[in-house]
Amino acid sequence: MTRLIQISDLHFGPPYVEKVGRLIPGLLDQLEPDGIIISGDFTQNCREEEFQSARDFLDRLPEVPTIKIPGNHDVPKYYDILGRLNHPYDLYRKYISEDLDVALNLDGLKIVGLNSTKPLQTIKNGRISREQLRFAADQLETAAESDWRIVIAHHHFAPAPDYEGSDVMPKAKRALDEFNRLQVDLIMGGHLHRAYIGNSLDVYSGSPDLERGMIIVQCGTTTSRRGRAREREKNSFNVIDFDDHQVTITHWLYFDKWARFCQVSQYRFPKPALRTLDCQARTVEWDEVEVGSEREH
Ligand SMILES: [Fe+2]
Repeated sequence: MTRLIQISDLHFGPPYVEKVGRLIPGLLDQLEPDGIIISGDFTQNCREEEFQSARDFLDRLPEVPTIKIPGNHDVPKYYDILGRLNHPYDLYRKYISEDLDVALNLDGLKIVGLNSTKPLQTIKNGRISREQLRFAADQLETAAESDWRIVIAHHHFAPAPDYEGSDVMPKAKRALDEFNRLQVDLIMGGHLHRAYIGNSLDVYSGSPDLERGMIIVQCGTTTSRRGRAREREKNSFNVIDFDDHQVTITHWLYFDKWARFCQVSQYRFPKPALRTLDCQARTVEWDEVEVGSEREH
């Protein structure tokens, strides 16, 4: 089994909740992840002291491979037009990561992280360029047949079921079609500030294969008071366990009255590439079930 933990939208700065944030390094240590995903918005206002605090936090996390990608709050605000034009990622590169589009191989996993911020094209929303789709293709085409293929971006490719303020990225369908072609299994993101686990076919049936779809794993804000909708003023993170055949996603939520995170829901999906085979195998078993037999109630 390979375990990823996804945290997101830390928002160091005024919205950061110290009493929650201080629990995370120890809790992640106890959960023994093989890798950590941090899906953007390390800071609230892209200030140097906020990035410094985020760096201190990262240095306290378990020492395992970590994928980090920027969020729209990690680039200078629209009113800092010179910073936005000339050096949008200077602080991010200094404190968080030199690379903006990243890839990672873990046992049985091929993970690609894409920088969806586009400070010159959009204010809050994001975009994935054709060049980035080529980067994803170059990485994913080297994956082993049995690998889980995972793509992460800060901005979401599919709206949350409550639709509250969750317009997707322009060109999201173009990206989803390409990810389908690349046999991506999971799409992960943040930005929405509440967790959402689902399937791309729930919102977009554009794939020629209507059976496959991709598993969507959105993370809430792990350490800020900016939670929205069903996670308003709440904090959450996801634990994602992969084996050869299935993935199990466990959603953890912080409860003020107990001052701790607890598991609140769990989702299990067969590997999309194996689902049809699994179904065929099970049909044999179901055919053998005696229909109409008397059962005790
Ligand atoms: Fe955010």
